[in-house]
Amino acid sequence: MAEPKTSELMEKIVSLCKRRGFIFQSSEIYGGLNGFWDYGPLGAELKRNIKECWWRSMTQLRDDVVGLDASIIMHPKIWEASGHTSTFSDLMVDCLLTKKRFRADQVEPQTGTAYFYTGAIDGGAGKESKDAFSVLVPAGKPPESARKAAKQFYQARGIENPALLGERTEEVKDSTRYNPENGSLLTEPRPFNLMLKTYVGPVESEDNNAYLRPETAQAIFVQFKNTLDVSRQRVPFGVCQIGKAFRNEINPRNFTFRSREFEQMELEFFIRPDEVVQKLTGSIASLSDAQPSPLVPQPNWGWELWHKYWVEQRIRWYESIGLGRDTLVEYWQEKGELAHYARACVDILFKFPFGTQELEGIAARSDFDLTQHQKFSGKSMEYFDEEAKAKYVPHVIEPSAGVDRLALALICNAYCEDQAPDEKGKLESRVVMKFHPRIAPIKVAVFPLLKNKPELVQKAKAVRDLLRPHMSVFYDEAGAIGRRYRRQDEAGTPFGVTIDFDTLGEKGPELQDTVTLRDRDTMKQERVRIGDLVSMLLEKIR
Ligand code: GAP
Repeated sequence: MAEPKTSELMEKIVSLCKRRGFIFQSSEIYGGLNGFWDYGPLGAELKRNIKECWWRSMTQLRDDVVGLDASIIMHPKIWEASGHTSTFSDLMVDCLLTKKRFRADQVEPQTGTAYFYTGAIDGGAGKESKDAFSVLVPAGKPPESARKAAKQFYQARGIENPALLGERTEEVKDSTRYNPENGSLLTEPRPFNLMLKTYVGPVESEDNNAYLRPETAQAIFVQFKNTLDVSRQRVPFGVCQIGKAFRNEINPRNFTFRSREFEQMELEFFIRPDEVVQKLTGSIASLSDAQPSPLVPQPNWGWELWHKYWVEQRIRWYESIGLGRDTLVEYWQEKGELAHYARACVDILFKFPFGTQELEGIAARSDFDLTQHQKFSGKSMEYFDEEAKAKYVPHVIEPSAGVDRLALALICNAYCEDQAPDEKGKLESRVVMKFHPRIAPIKVAVFPLLKNKPELVQKAKAVRDLLRPHMSVFYDEAGAIGRRYRRQDEAGTPFGVTIDFDTLGEKGPELQDTVTLRDRDTMKQERVRIGDLVSMLLEKIR
C-alpha cells in the first residue's frame, strides 16, 4: 500500500487515538484546554506499560539505582537554586492585532511589502494615536488589506474612524517580525517564564508563591542525602523518578508532543569527579578505550564513559520496546547548544511524521545541581568516599525522557495500514497498531466463535479467567469473528485466542481443549493446548 503523506498520516493517527480511546482532548465538552490531554482506556494502559517497563529496567533489574516519588510542589527556593526562576524562559512575541502569542524562534520567516504607519487620527472625534504600526503584505495581495489591518489596529486603540498617517512601504525578505497568519507586526521578543505559578495556603501573596515543578529532577537532588542515608548505596549510584511536570508552553503543538502538563521519567546517576577517579585508579579511561558494546562499567570510568554508557543503555531500552535504531537519531549537541551546566548532552530523537524530534536528553550535568543546592540551602551535599578516602560533591549523568512523547512515538511507530481477508476471504484494508507485545495495552483477546452457543461462551470465559491473573485480557463475543479481529488489530492487541467447536472436542479428542492462537501482524493461526497458553504468552509479552 502507498504510504500516506505525513500530514495526512498524522490526521489519521489523531483520529484513531480518539476513536479507539488512546487520547482525548482535555475538557473537550467545554471546548478543550490547549496543551492538556487525557488518556482513554487504551492510552492509560499504554502509558502504564511504558512506565512499568522503564521502572523495571532502571531500578528493579539493577543493583545501583533506587526510586523516589516526590511531591509536585516544592519549596520555591529550589527553583532559585536550580536557575529555573531566573532562566527557565522562552522568548515570546505577541501579535499587535489579535494578541496571539508565539514562541519567537517558531515564527516562520515572511517576505513581501511592509506598510508602515506613524499613527492615525479621527478628525470628527478629535482623537489621535501616535502608536507606530506596520503590516506585511505578501506578493499578490492588494495594498488595501494592509490599510484594513492598520485601521483595525487603531480602532482597537479608540480611534473609531481612523485616517492613517505617514504611510510608507519597504520590501522585506525573510523577516520574523510579522505574524504569518495575518501579516501584523509582532511585539519585540521578551522572555516568558515557563513555570506555572500557584499559591500555597489561603493567602494569595508573594510570600506564598509556589510553582508546579517544571521537571522531576530537582526533587532527586534535594533528597540526595536522605536517599543515600537510607539506601546504603555507594557512588556510583542513581536515583530515578517518574512523575508529572508542568510547563506553561507558549505554543503547545504537534498533538501531545509539546504539552503543558506531561510526565517525565528521569534518572540522576551520581558518579565520582574525574580527579577522584584519577587518584584512585591512576588513569581515566577515554572514549577510545571503551571495550566493544555493551559497555560494562569499570572503576576507571570518568564522566565521558559514564555518559556514553547511559546513551547506549537508553537506546537499547527503546529497541526493547519496539523502536528500532532506524527510527531513532542520536544527536550530540554542539558546544554552543549546551545548557550552562552541561558538559555534554545527547538527544535521542524519533522520526515523527511531523519531523525528527527529541524523545529524551542525556546530559552530563557535572556537580552543578548539588553544588547549587548546597549553596542555597546551607546543607552539605558532600559525600565521603571510603574507598577513595576523599570527600566530594558527586557529578551527575541525567537520562531524562518524556512518557507522553514516548507514547506518541510508539503510537506513530505502531500505526500501519495493510490488507486482510474479510469473512468471505476477500481482501480489505485494515488499520493495525503493531505495538511491541511488551507495551501493547491489551495482550490477548479471547473470542468464542459464536455467542449463541453456551458451551463455547462458557469455555471462552474459562480461558479468559485462566489468562487474566497473568496479563491484560479482553473478552469479546459481539459480532462476526473477522470484525472482532479488526477491532483488536486497531487496539494493537498482539494475540487473539478463539474457542471453536474443535475446542469442545467435536472433531475428536485430539483437538479437544485446544484453541487457535492468532498473531496480529502475520494473521497466522496456530492450534495450541489451553494448558500451554499461559507459559507461551508470558514468554512473548515479557
Ligand atoms: N531534567 C532535564 C529536563 O527536564 P528537558 O529536555 O527539558 O530536560 C526532558 O525535558 C524530556 O521531557 C524531553 O526530552 C521530553 O521528552 C519531555 N518534555 C519536555 N518538555 C515537554 C513538553 N512540553 N511536553 C511533553 N514532553 C516534554
